[in-house]
Amino acid sequence: MDTTIIDGVELHLCEPDQVPMNWVGQHEVVTQVLAAWLVLGEGDLPLNPRLVGKPGVGKTTLAYHAGRTLGKPVYLFQATMDTRPEDLIVTPVISDQGKIKYMASPVVSAMIRGGVAVIDEGNRMSEKSWASLAPLMDSRRYVESIVAGIKIRAHPDFRLCTTMNEDASTFELPEYIHSRLQPQIYIDFPEREEERAILKANLPFADEAILDYVVDFLQAAHEAGERYSVRDGINIARYALKRLVEGAGEADTGGARHRALGTLKEAAGMILDHGAAEVFKALLEDAEEG
Ligand SMILES: Nc1ncnc2c1ncn2[C@@H]1O[C@H](COP(=O)(O)OP(=O)(O)OP(=O)(O)O)[C@@H](O)[C@H]1O
Ligand SMILES: [Mg+2]
Repeated sequence: MDTTIIDGVELHLCEPDQVPMNWVGQHEVVTQVLAAWLVLGEGDLPLNPRLVGKPGVGKTTLAYHAGRTLGKPVYLFQATMDTRPEDLIVTPVISDQGKIKYMASPVVSAMIRGGVAVIDEGNRMSEKSWASLAPLMDSRRYVESIVAGIKIRAHPDFRLCTTMNEDASTFELPEYIHSRLQPQIYIDFPEREEERAILKANLPFADEAILDYVVDFLQAAHEAGERYSVRDGINIARYALKRLVEGAGEADTGGARHRALGTLKEAAGMILDHGAAEVFKALLEDAEEG
């Protein structure tokens, strides 16, 4: 189904996202999302969970994975400060024949196909854009397209969730929107074993020793209340691995461990900051002594 007709207006649907995002560990939060989406029987409504947590803890990955777990098509919508209400619903474009074509947004495509819509980084878009989704998120379960002049009802299987970011370039959402984006599911930094499994899943070709050093670094950072996340760890390891290959011919007298830590230190300095590089420097000094 590529198009559908609603109240005599033809809508072109978009395709769901097929991305290699697999959630590892922290099973509890997946269960929380799935519970929020459950419908217990006639008259019950699914909830629209809001996933929150520090940058890079896996909010987007969790949202996508939870949707795939239900076996539904998942549509990711990236919210930005420029997102307009019609971007969330239906936008008109001019076709080859010079006629107007109505394009359904990922959210509306999910509504029609009974899929999952993930509004990613939802608090980057303004209240005005959220307001157009207000009826979708209560018992009405529809949206109105001003552009196409139609009302679009959600399929009973349609599910919605959003992720929210904690940084300066976000909006404070009003209460009537907040109260429709419930429950709030908090994603924390993972435990050591889980964090290692996440690194391993994202970097299956990495040397075990590199993974161990990066986990040591991340766990120490979480304990110290630093903001470094598993994404930072993945990026450091990814660059260090490339650097090891590219610099394979360089003279180094310290052995494999020395070289690995040296590249991790360089990667941490380039990807994060001096403080992060210092942590690997300390590990390097320990390795030299030991
Ligand atoms: N539990 C996990 N399982 C698998 N991968 C994970 C997990 N947690 C984090 N990651 C990995 O960490 C990286 C960051 O994840 P993601 O983009 O989902 O985080 P985020 O919280 O949405 O970040 P942002 O705050 O920037 O939006 C991705 O590469 C993802 O694969
Ligand atoms: Mg994200």
